[in-house]
Amino acid sequence: MSNKKKLYIETLGCAMNTRDTEHIIAELSSKDSYELCNEAKIADLIMINTCSVREKPVNKLFSEIGVFNKLKKDGAKIGICGCTASHLGDEIFKRAPSVSFVLGARNVSKVVEAVNTDKFLSVDIDYDESTYAFGEFRNSMNKAYVNISIGCDKQCTYCIVPHTRGDEISIPPELIIKEAKKAALSGAKEIFLLGQNVNNYGKRFSSKRDEKIDFSDLLNLISQIEEVERIRFTSPHPLHMDDKFLETFAKNPKVCKSMHMPLQSGSTHILEQMKRGYTKEWFLNRAMKLRELVPNVSISTDIIVAFPGESEKDFEDSMDVIEKVRFEQIFAFKYSARPLTKAAEFTNQIDSETGSARLKKLQDRQNEILDEIASQKSGQVLDVYFEELRNNGLVAGRSDNNALVQVEGNEELLGKTLKVKITNPRRLALYGEIVQ
Ligand code: 5AD
Ligand code: SF4
Repeated sequence: MSNKKKLYIETLGCAMNTRDTEHIIAELSSKDSYELCNEAKIADLIMINTCSVREKPVNKLFSEIGVFNKLKKDGAKIGICGCTASHLGDEIFKRAPSVSFVLGARNVSKVVEAVNTDKFLSVDIDYDESTYAFGEFRNSMNKAYVNISIGCDKQCTYCIVPHTRGDEISIPPELIIKEAKKAALSGAKEIFLLGQNVNNYGKRFSSKRDEKIDFSDLLNLISQIEEVERIRFTSPHPLHMDDKFLETFAKNPKVCKSMHMPLQSGSTHILEQMKRGYTKEWFLNRAMKLRELVPNVSISTDIIVAFPGESEKDFEDSMDVIEKVRFEQIFAFKYSARPLTKAAEFTNQIDSETGSARLKKLQDRQNEILDEIASQKSGQVLDVYFEELRNNGLVAGRSDNNALVQVEGNEELLGKTLKVKITNPRRLALYGEIVQ
């Protein structure tokens, strides 16, 4: 049996958190003697990498700490990191005295120090280039997450993220290329670029730089790495979807043809209140241009319903955009008032029942749209990059435009791109057979 200490880590929230968790594992295994385990009760260190974007997961945090307290072995430590750590800070120690350390979303590089210092607290959001240098750990051999920027400069009035992840800073392109190359050489043919606002890349670096580089240039640079076959990214901002970006997206064959376009609301009035910087017409114009340039593109989005002051007519504008764009995927949320945000102080909050009813109406209609879209996929042949073994004898992969495709098979398919004929298209996954 290995005499290494065991780390159990639970990850909530977005892809940024998934990558931060990889960084934490890399630090703790290379600079201390931890190895990952998948049961909290045998762990020497239990960590929760938290999300604070909505209220629910924040409330759940303290009940979860209670559960871990009961099941953890004697002497095991509990550490809280991520966005809720950033915004609650030492309040976490007060509400949960069993917690040993609190590490903000921008401070995960200090995890080794945190584990070895009693009641360690670090939640600042300063610039720090050293935080990009991490040891190597990846959840998947076939897909590599690569951060291209950290933080967010936008001031969306509903969003807590600028307070938890700080100002937006682009990571120097040479570091990104180096990391993408290293990952690709070790077998990750798909590179997944991460940032809060990826298509605002290049506006500010932490050190003074003369060169001008934007996100389109970065995509083209990464695509020159021979071993990289596919490039994905999240999240772009609709405001920065200029023609150059859409054309690069369309033309570069290594850039996968799925675009996340977070709408948030279809009402120009609500978009103004949210300080999103674009109108309903701009959003529709960009989405239509995208469909025109890339006929097989799939477009996903995030929508918030019942933002303060949202009238029936405003909500109908969101419904209208989903009719017109016919998104391939929607992440819909009921507005949740967050501390430190402007919208939390608005006096025209919408009652919870209205919010739930709007959410249901939107999701019901979207499910009908998805059934219609799926029914047209029967018989299509898609290039699928296989990434994951499922425990029901199926292997899952993604088409270039991000459809989840599953076929019968085994681990030999992993890391391969193969043609699959769709025989049973369902709303959430397409089932098919390999034809080559
Ligand atoms: N309430 C509800 N949803 C929110 N999001 C961000 N902040 C809030 C909030 N206060 C949603 C947005 C964002 C996604 C990650 O979470 O749609 O794009
Ligand atoms: Fe990610 Fe935002 Fe949640 Fe932080 S608050 S984990 S940035 S989704």
